[in-house]
Amino acid sequence: MSEPETDAEGTDEALSSPTPGSEVAGDSQSDSGVLTAEPIIQSRDVNVFYGDEQALQNITMDIPEKRVTALIGPSGCGKSTFLRCINRMNDLISTARVDGELLFSDKNVYDTDVDPVALRRKIGMVFQQPNPFPKSIRDNVAYGLEIQGFDGDVDARVEEALKGAALWDEVNDRLDESGLELSGGQQHRLCIARAIAPDPEVILMDEPASALDPVATSQVEDLIADISEEYTVVIVTHNMQQAARISDKTGVFLTGGELVEFDDTQKIFENPEHQRVEDYITGKFG
Ligand SMILES: Nc1ncnc2c1ncn2[C@@H]1O[C@H](COP(=O)(O)OP(=O)(O)OP(=O)(O)O)[C@@H](O)[C@H]1O
Ligand SMILES: [Mg+2]
Repeated sequence: MSEPETDAEGTDEALSSPTPGSEVAGDSQSDSGVLTAEPIIQSRDVNVFYGDEQALQNITMDIPEKRVTALIGPSGCGKSTFLRCINRMNDLISTARVDGELLFSDKNVYDTDVDPVALRRKIGMVFQQPNPFPKSIRDNVAYGLEIQGFDGDVDARVEEALKGAALWDEVNDRLDESGLELSGGQQHRLCIARAIAPDPEVILMDEPASALDPVATSQVEDLIADISEEYTVVIVTHNMQQAARISDKTGVFLTGGELVEFDDTQKIFENPEHQRVEDYITGKFG
């Protein structure tokens, strides 16, 4: 998939409007009281259709700021579709239609005054299939900085992002080679570096570790733990142990595009409310 950034002029103001509720109350409590964090993304009855086919049904969830939220569920249940709603990547699919409300810092990202390019600068994404550009490793990572008109030290930011993505040691002596010459797992980490370089507020990751070996997987998990101190991370994974290890909140989607349960990760894995969730987690179906 090609990147949609064609117009760097955006309405950042529309996205950074004051957040009315945020200064009123203290931390919000989750059902089990384990996690305290304000929601940064709130999905309210989101439905998604591809043509006549409904892919998501009334998805309602609060994604906490500076935490890791995992989305799990069987293939085809709508995890990637939901992730793409958050930064309006579904806009690029001609048959896709979204209704409901998707709030980012209390502002509906589907409001007409929201510029999707500006939105994606704040909500970066790592896709299910790594998609480096046919450019050098350095230029791949610097891409988002250019779009944003970054006037700081680009090379320093590129190095920082590649270190963050646990790729620096493997590529620091060949930054001018094409990103396409990297292995699949390295390409995935390059795309992670590209996503974090512009310093977004939220990073959406669609199975970022699916093509990685165990060492790189554990590096990416460490990276996610590190970046969640500063960023909000939403990660789709098929790996239950990974979800249990790295996330604070877990949402379980099941066939038909339904979000069956959303709660603290520990609760989902130890004592879920729904039998269907327990069956899925324990491998009885899905
Ligand atoms: N571009 C598209 N056009 C039409 N239908 C689509 C498109 N993308 C996804 N769908 C459909 O929407 C549903 C949800 O797909 P989605 O890719 O969101 O699932 P997923 O949970 O991410 O699956 P996986 O775990 O295999 O990646 C599926 O029925 C799929 O066929
Ligand atoms: Mg998917």
